Amino acid sequence: MGILKDQHHSLFLLLNIINVLASFSVQSAEPPFSCASIPSKNYNFCNAKLSIQQRVDDLISKLTLDEKISQLGDIAPAIPRLGIPAYKWWSESLHGVSNSGKGIYFNGTIRSATSFPQVILSAASFNPNLWYLIGQVIGTEARAIYNAGQAEGLTFWAPNINVFRDPRWGRGQETPGEDPETVSRYAVSYVRGMQGDSFNNKKGGVTASSSSTGLKVSACCKHYTAYDLDNWEKVVRYTFDAKVTAQDLVDTYQPPFQSCVQEGHASGMMCSYNRVNGVPTCADYNLLSKTARASWGFYGYIVSDCDAVSIIHDAQGYAKAPEDAVADVLQAGMDVNCGNYMQKYAGSAIQQKKITESDINRALQNLFTIRMRLGLFDGSPKNQAYGNIPPTQVCTQDHQNLALEAAREGIVLLKNSNNLLPLSKAKVASLGVIGPNANNFTTLLGNYAGPPCKSISPLQALQSYVKDTKYVPGCSSVACPSSSTSEAVQLASSVDYVIMVMGLDLTQEKEELDRENLVLPGMQESLITSVAKAAKKPVILVLMCGGPVDVTFAKLDDKIGAILWVGYPGEAGGLAMAEILFGEHNPGGRLPVTWYPQEFTKVPMTDMRMRADPATGYPGRTYRFYTGTPVFKFGFGLSYSKFSYEFVSVATEGSVYLNKSVNLYDLKKTSGNSYDTMKIGSKACKNLKFSAVVGVKNHGPMAGRHPVMLFKRSSTLQGRPMEQLIRFKSVQLDAGEEAKVEFIMNPCKHLGRTEVDGAKVLDEGSHILVVGEKEYELSIIA
Ligand SMILES: *[C@@H]1O[C@H](CO)[C@@H](O)[C@H](O)[C@H]1NC(C)=O
Ligand SMILES: *[C@@H]1O[C@H](CO)[C@@H](O)[C@H](O)[C@H]1NC(C)=O
Ligand SMILES: *[C@@H]1O[C@H](CO)[C@@H](O)[C@H](O)[C@H]1NC(C)=O
Repeated sequence: MGILKDQHHSLFLLLNIINVLASFSVQSAEPPFSCASIPSKNYNFCNAKLSIQQRVDDLISKLTLDEKISQLGDIAPAIPRLGIPAYKWWSESLHGVSNSGKGIYFNGTIRSATSFPQVILSAASFNPNLWYLIGQVIGTEARAIYNAGQAEGLTFWAPNINVFRDPRWGRGQETPGEDPETVSRYAVSYVRGMQGDSFNNKKGGVTASSSSTGLKVSACCKHYTAYDLDNWEKVVRYTFDAKVTAQDLVDTYQPPFQSCVQEGHASGMMCSYNRVNGVPTCADYNLLSKTARASWGFYGYIVSDCDAVSIIHDAQGYAKAPEDAVADVLQAGMDVNCGNYMQKYAGSAIQQKKITESDINRALQNLFTIRMRLGLFDGSPKNQAYGNIPPTQVCTQDHQNLALEAAREGIVLLKNSNNLLPLSKAKVASLGVIGPNANNFTTLLGNYAGPPCKSISPLQALQSYVKDTKYVPGCSSVACPSSSTSEAVQLASSVDYVIMVMGLDLTQEKEELDRENLVLPGMQESLITSVAKAAKKPVILVLMCGGPVDVTFAKLDDKIGAILWVGYPGEAGGLAMAEILFGEHNPGGRLPVTWYPQEFTKVPMTDMRMRADPATGYPGRTYRFYTGTPVFKFGFGLSYSKFSYEFVSVATEGSVYLNKSVNLYDLKKTSGNSYDTMKIGSKACKNLKFSAVVGVKNHGPMAGRHPVMLFKRSSTLQGRPMEQLIRFKSVQLDAGEEAKVEFIMNPCKHLGRTEVDGAKVLDEGSHILVVGEKEYELSIIA
C-alpha cells in the first residue's frame, strides 16, 4: 500500500527518547507506549484517574488538524511533540496470532505462535467453551508478543463472522459455518476470550459502554455485512452489490454481528467491500451509526476493509470525488481506513467543505478510546495488568495441547461402513498413504496463519503409529492435472490398509478465489476410485478442505470404507487425525455447513436469497432453506459410539405461558396460519424464559465428546426455515454414561421468527423441538 514509509524512522527515534528519559534500557525491545516521559506525563490524557472520555477529549484538543488527519489510516504515525508513538491498527489472528497484517513481527525472541485449526474445523466441535479458550490463548500470546516489543498494535481483525452462505466461497474456511446461531455463539466466545472477558458474563470482565473497560487485546467483528463473495466468474467483491431482502438481513446476515457486539462486547467492527442494496457498507449511516452504535450499543471503532474507502470512488463510482468518499464514510460513522485514502483526502475534503473538523474529531474519539482501553496511555506496560505476560507464554505446552484438542473435537467422521474404523494398531502391519495433502505443512494451516510452534503432517503422524508406512503423493499438486495412478495402485495393492489424504488447498479456495465446482479437482476422483479398486481392504478417505466437496462417488463406493473430514486442522491436526483413525479419540465433530451436490453450481453465487423460490427452481441455501438433497447434511457426523436422546421435561408440562406479557395489541391473524402471531419487541419479552431438559446417553463402546443440538422444525410458510438450530451444548460422556442437558431459552428469541418485512414475531400455538430422532411438541399460550 506504500503508506507513509518514513514513519518507522521517527517511531524509533521517539522510542529512544522516551527510553532515555524514563531510564529504560535501550538494548531490549520495548513495546511502544505513551505517557512515561516528561512532558507528556503531565497531560490530562495521561491521568488514569480521569475518565477515558475526559482523557480522549483532552488529547484531541491538543492535536492540530494535520495531526488529526494523520491518524485516520491503519498506519497512524507518531506525534512526537506529545510523546505519542506510532500505532498500527492492522493485525490478524483468525486462528492464532498471525503476521499477515502489519502490526506483528516474528523477528525477535518470539518466532512463532500457536496455530489452531482453521475456524471452520473448530466450529465443528460445537463447543463454545473451546472457542473461548482459543480466543483466550490468542489474547495471551498477542500480549506476550507486544510486551516483547514485536508488535506495534493490539487491534486484531478477527473473527470473520459472515455466514458461509455459498459453498463456493473461498473464505468460507475462515468462518464458523452457515448457521447464524452457531456463528453468533462462536463470535461471542472467541471475542470474550480474546478481550479478557469472562466466558459467561457472570462476573467481572469487560462490559460495554462503561468507563472501566480495559481490553487485553481488541477483537473485530468482520465483514459487516452480507459479504461472502470474493471473486466468482468475474464478479469481484470490490464492486459486488449484494441484494438482500429485509427478512434475510434480519434473520441470517445480521445476527452474528448483533451478538458479537451485544454479548461479545467486541471493541472493533470492519465494514466490508461490497454494497448492500446499492449502498457501500462503509458509507451506510443506517448500518454503522443507527444499527450498530445506536441500536446495538456498539462501543468501539469501525475500520474499513483494506482500501474499501478508495473503491467507493474508484471502482464503484458511488462517490463522485475522493473527497466525497471520505465524507460519506466519516459521516456514516466509520473511523479509520485500512489504507491511506483518508489521510490523503481528508484535508481537501475539509477545504471543499465536504466535512468539518468535528467529523474527524468524532472518529478520533473512537480511535483514541480504544488505544486508552488497551492501556497504551498509562505509561509503561510493566505496571499494567497485561504488561508482564512473558515470551514464555507463547507456544506453551498447554496452548499446543489446546490446538490438538480443537482438531480432535472438530474432525468429522462422515462414513464408516462395517465399522472399518477405528483401526487397531496391532492389526495394521503395513500402511499405504496416498495423496497430495498427506505431507504438506502449509496446507495444514489454511489462510491467515502465522508461523506455527511446530507442525506434524498426517504422514508423519501415521508413521509414528505404523512403522511400515509408505507414501506416494498420487498427484503432482492438489489441482491434480495428472495423476501417477499406476504407482499409487501398486502401493495400494501391496499394503494392509490405504489412507488417502485428498481435498483442496489455497490454490483452490482462498481470499479472492471462489470455486466454480464442488467436486474434487482434476484427476483426484479417478485416482481415488482406481486406488480403492486395487486395495486389499476398503480404503479410508481423508478430506482436507475448508469448503464442502461433492464426494457422492465416495459415499456410494463400497471400496471406500470410511470418510473423514479434517478441515485445515492446524499445527497438531495430523496427530489428531491419526488418533481418531486408531481409536485413541472418538470423533464427535459435526458439519457446520451443508455439503451440496455439484448441481448446486447452477445457482448464481451472486443470488443472496436464502429462501427457496419453487416458482423459478431456486433451491434456497443452507440447511434452513435448501430444498435439494445434500451430500451430507449440516450437523451430520458419526461417532464410534451410539448415542440416544430423550426430552426429559420442557417448560411447564410442555406449555409456555406468556401471561399477556408480550404486547397483545400487536396481535394479528396471519393468513394461512390458524394461530395468532405476536410482534416481538416489548420489553416484557426480555424476561420470559423456559427450560428444555434433554437426556443424552452414550451406549458405548467408547467414551466421547458429543454435541447435543436442539432444533426447531417448522412449515415453510412466510419464509419460515424448515429447521433451525436454536441451542447446542457439548458434553463428555463415558461409555454407558448418561447426562441431562438443560437449555434455558427465551420464547421470543429462540422460537420467534422473522416476517417478510423484517419484523420479528412469535407464533402462538404449537412449536416442534427436535433433537436427533426425537421430537417434542411445545405450546405457546398467550
Ligand atoms: C522486525 O521487523 C520490524 C518491521 O519490519 C522492524 O521494524 C524491526 O526492526 C525488526 N526487528 C528486528 C529485531 O529485526
Ligand atoms: C504445499 O502446497 C502448496 C500449495 O498450497 C504448494 O505451493 C507447495 O509447493 C506444497 N509443498 C510441498 C512440500 O509439496
Ligand atoms: C402464568 O399463567 C399460568 C396459567 O394461567 C399460571 O399457572 C402461572 O402461574 C402464571 N405465571 C405468572 C408468572 O403469572
